[in-house]
Amino acid sequence: MSNIVIIGAQWGDEGKGKVIDVYSRKVDMIARYQGGNNAGHTVVIGKDRFILHLIPSGILHKGKMCVIGNGVVVDPKALLEEIKMLQSRGIDVDGRLFVSEEAHIILPYHWKLDGIKEEKKGRIGTTKKGIGPCYADKVARNGIRAVDLLNRDVLRQKLQSNLDEKNAIFSKIYGVEGFGFDALYKEYLGYGERIKKYICNTTVLLNGAIKKRKKILFEGAQGTLLDVDHGTYPFVTSSNSTAGGASTGTGVGPNKIDKVIGVVKAYTTRVGEGPFPTEFGPDLMERIRQKGKEFGATTGRPRRCGWFDSVVVGHAVMVNGIDEIVITKLDVLDDLETIKICISYKYNGGVHKHFPADMQAQAGAEPVYEELPGWKADTTGITTYSKLPKNAKNYLKRIQYILNTKIVLISVGSDRKQTFPKY
Ligand code: GDP
Ligand code: IMO
Ligand code: MG
Repeated sequence: MSNIVIIGAQWGDEGKGKVIDVYSRKVDMIARYQGGNNAGHTVVIGKDRFILHLIPSGILHKGKMCVIGNGVVVDPKALLEEIKMLQSRGIDVDGRLFVSEEAHIILPYHWKLDGIKEEKKGRIGTTKKGIGPCYADKVARNGIRAVDLLNRDVLRQKLQSNLDEKNAIFSKIYGVEGFGFDALYKEYLGYGERIKKYICNTTVLLNGAIKKRKKILFEGAQGTLLDVDHGTYPFVTSSNSTAGGASTGTGVGPNKIDKVIGVVKAYTTRVGEGPFPTEFGPDLMERIRQKGKEFGATTGRPRRCGWFDSVVVGHAVMVNGIDEIVITKLDVLDDLETIKICISYKYNGGVHKHFPADMQAQAGAEPVYEELPGWKADTTGITTYSKLPKNAKNYLKRIQYILNTKIVLISVGSDRKQTFPKY
């Protein structure tokens, strides 16, 4: 097995950053394929804690090549800040960070539109990083791409026509001020100059590497239920965070991908609005939020928490073709007397094993639970599967059985080292 995709199987923040860091040792290149700096991927190495938003989590491994693929939306300002942060902590990216010339660029009018829509229209609870409006421009064929920042004429023409349209929307629909051309043109030409050394044809780079039998890890951002097609639409992000996105978001054929690994939190969390059938009541919510430090890595917002939902993860196994599962944050359940697993939903007068598409059914879905005894023991220092308490093993076995998918790795703490294989 050489090329793997690692994706989130719930609503994001499953611990992908940690898992990708662990798997990065075994590969040559790590490629992000969708999303943008709405992602927040945490990697903890001893006392050092890194949060990556745009640059692949593999960057912390010396010598590994990192690619930001064509499917990613790139905020050049955020990219430069992240590069600076890494350099200030002794991690050099030059010569091993590559940004697709086809990646679309997030501009200030995208942030502004994202913010206004959040305030004036129905709330999604976005990160307000301009992700949705940037992808909307891409699909509407108005987008400005990384390569355009390197061509004064193309940038002038595209920026002018975008500003004509966006400024009319700002003034006529929302009654707010728009953006002047000159300052923005100068600023983004400047970013072009500064990121020029990273911009290249990453499709050729990746396919060339595959020909030479190099191993690629495709890093998913967000999670399956936030996928624009397969998630809880419209409470989703604006890209394909599922495994299929790895192919379209990098220009690597699906037949070159050998394995899909799903990262699954031992319970469930979600940030932002939208249906969440297994959401806890207030007491348990606060307890697990504190124990699991469930606050957004990008926005700092408190995450909503709930029981493990096998309807959600079963859906993820199906739409991603998950071969293997990594379970994270098992330790967060250490103190509980009993633990619930959602095995199906009641909606539309019946009991169902599949996630409904209808918004009202999603919002009203009532979880059907089975209950297992907790293990009431600290698992954070455990380094082998055999040492896990019996009830923790039973919990994992039950999840594996319900999902009919192998659990291969277990994580019991945020550090790189707090990870061990299931067998
Ligand atoms: P990502 O977006 O999927 O990369 O996840 P985030 O980094 O946004 O959130 C996961 C959080 O859980 C981070 O703070 C991690 O350091 C932390 N974490 C990861 N794995 C574990 C684990 O097994 N146990 C505990 N207690 N924390 C973990
Ligand atoms: P990682 O990669 C969790 C959520 C937002 C909001 C919705 C749309 O760290 O798992 P957007 O700004 O993308 O238009 O917001 O998606 N969201 C995430 N939730 N983890 C993420 O990324 C997320 N990225 C976006 O909270 O509900
Ligand atoms: Mg995150």
